[in-house]
Formats: sequence, structure tokens, C-alpha cells
Amino acid sequence: MHQDIEKVLIDEEVIKKRLDVLAQKVMLDFEGKPMVVVALLKGAVLFMADLLRRVPLPMEIECLNVASYHGGTESSGVVSFLDNTMPDVDGRSVLLLDDILDTGRTLDAVMKKLREHGAAEVKTCVLLAKDIPRDEVLAADYTGFVIGDEFVVGYGLDYRGRYRNLPYVGLLKESAIG
Ligand code: XMP
Repeated sequence: MHQDIEKVLIDEEVIKKRLDVLAQKVMLDFEGKPMVVVALLKGAVLFMADLLRRVPLPMEIECLNVASYHGGTESSGVVSFLDNTMPDVDGRSVLLLDDILDTGRTLDAVMKKLREHGAAEVKTCVLLAKDIPRDEVLAADYTGFVIGDEFVVGYGLDYRGRYRNLPYVGLLKESAIG
């Protein structure tokens, strides 16, 4: 385990088993549809790679660069779109991937944008969802794991740009948060 990690919350093997299940659900919903996957950078990169290799459907893969945490451990509440262009989603079924659902503002803002750009349908898929009160409409269509209201790193999630490459999801030691 990495020296800055207090505790592993979800280990690699458990993540992989859950991805098998999520992939099956995605297959059932998207089979036969013109599919575009839109993954949010950078947090969803590991999740995207491991999930999509389990989904043998024809698809395009796109990434969108958005920011909502701006480097700290609390959501800023402001979602910034860092790209000048949007992927071509007109008339297509979009699977929108993110690492974690916290307040839900990020996915909500991106979903609205994708719809404005003509997406026929948008389904949202997150590896993690924090167990906090949030409006029903902000829930994801597919969720890997529900976790407590804690700041987590690993498997794509970072603190100040670090720890994304850890193969598990864990909690940081107090001493590593400055
Ligand atoms: P909202 O509040 O818009 O937040 O649902 C989603 C985005 O916030 C980031 N986020 C986290 N990043 N550890 C992280 O490294 C966390 O515990 C955490 N919670 C939220 C993440 O970028 C996500 O896309």
C-alpha cells in the first residue's frame, strides 16, 4: 500500500468484479444503438479503460476536459468546460462516464451540454457515488459503489494531481493533506 494511504476502501479485485456487472448492464441498454462514450478527464481515465474493454459493442470514445474540484478536497460548485469543442453526439446514444458522483453538478452540467448538442439519449455511469442527500434526477444510471461522504483517491481520483495511478480506491492520511 502507498505510504500516504490510511486505508484501502475498495481493492482492485473487487473493482474488477463490479466492472463485469456494470459492463453487462451497459451492453443490454446500448446494444444496437449508435453509441458514443464520453469520459470526463482526467478522473474517469482508468475507469473508462477497464470498463470499456468489457463492452464489445461498436462505439466511439471521446473525452471531455472539465474541472469542478480545482485541486482541493471540496467541490467548488463551479463546473468549467476546458475544451473549445464538443464531441459529435448528434442523434446518438451517449454513455457519460465519470469517476465519482458527489453533488451531481458536474454530470448534470455535462448532460445538459450533450443534450444541447443533439444527443438522442444520455446515460450516466460512475465508479463511485457518495452517500449524500441529492435530488433524484442527479442520480447516475449505473453506479459501481456507494461510499461515505469522504474524500477518496486512487483509480483515477487525485489529490493535487497525485495518486490517480493507484489500482485501488483509498483514504489519504491526514499528514498527506496540506
Ligand atoms: P460533483 O460534486 O460535481 O463532483 O458531483 C464530481 C467531481 O468532483 C470530483 N470529486 C472528487 N475527486 N476525490 C477526488 O479526487 C473525491 O472524493 C471527490 N469527490 C468529488 C471529481 O473530479 C468528480 O468528477
